[in-house]
Amino acid sequence: MKPVLQVRDLCRNRILHNISFDLMPGELLAVMGPSGSGKSTLLYNTAGLDQADAGEVRLQDTVLTALSDDHKARLRLEKMGFVFQQMNTIPGLSLEENIVLPGIQAQGKRQKAKVKEKARRLMKELGLEGLENRQVQQVSGGQLQRACICRSLINDPVILFADEPTGALNRQAAQEVMDTLVNLNRQGMSILMVTHDSKTASRCDRILYLQDGEIKDQLYLERADADREQRVNDWLMQRGW
Ligand SMILES: Nc1ncnc2c1ncn2[C@@H]1O[C@H](COP(=O)(O)OP(=O)(O)OP(=O)(O)O)[C@@H](O)[C@H]1O
Ligand SMILES: [Mg+2]
Repeated sequence: MKPVLQVRDLCRNRILHNISFDLMPGELLAVMGPSGSGKSTLLYNTAGLDQADAGEVRLQDTVLTALSDDHKARLRLEKMGFVFQQMNTIPGLSLEENIVLPGIQAQGKRQKAKVKEKARRLMKELGLEGLENRQVQQVSGGQLQRACICRSLINDPVILFADEPTGALNRQAAQEVMDTLVNLNRQGMSILMVTHDSKTASRCDRILYLQDGEIKDQLYLERADADREQRVNDWLMQRGW
């Protein structure tokens, strides 16, 4: 099986040093590490949102690091989904309008009806039916983050990038958002997720441990393992977490 994402010797001035890893199709991969260790920088550089100094990122058959900024932006719009802690929704627009926006951007105004239908289907799947016309400030944090996940899926990406997707949420909402991401992953979505929450990380297939901009270790988790949260906590403790 070929990786969805191949990262080789990625460097970013004094923040990231020779980062190399693969993300396999359908894998749910977490990045953990102390604050300031470079997790967000790793995510941004991997997705081409930041200009790495050296190294290569390959998304399927495309060498992302060799593309112009315009090409990268197009590829992000069409092939990548993003979910951030700060949800970056547009106030004054409804949930549905926020979700539809990148769809129209990628596919053109003439596809509006089709994009809208897709937005409604996604909202239904993610438990947001009936909230289509709510303004972003009229829903809970968990609902808003699930709307952001809908938005990230509107163009059928091949990979999702998530930076602390549950970071701004209370425990209950965090669990709902994580349930949603795990569900998507079980349907085949490849996900790279930064988190500092061991409970969240314990639901992933593998965890990379980043420290001082280097991948120091990784932990594989079995989906059937009942003790995975304990394993993650023990492993983190050994890393000096
Ligand atoms: N645009 C930038 N210019 C210069 N330095 C930066 C920039 N962005 C981040 N840094 C620095 O790079 C280092 C890594 O930052 P990064 O945000 O990737 O860490 P992080 O692991 O995501 O931390 P946190 O857990 O707090 O989100 C930090 O020392 C930070 O101050
Ligand atoms: Mg960060």
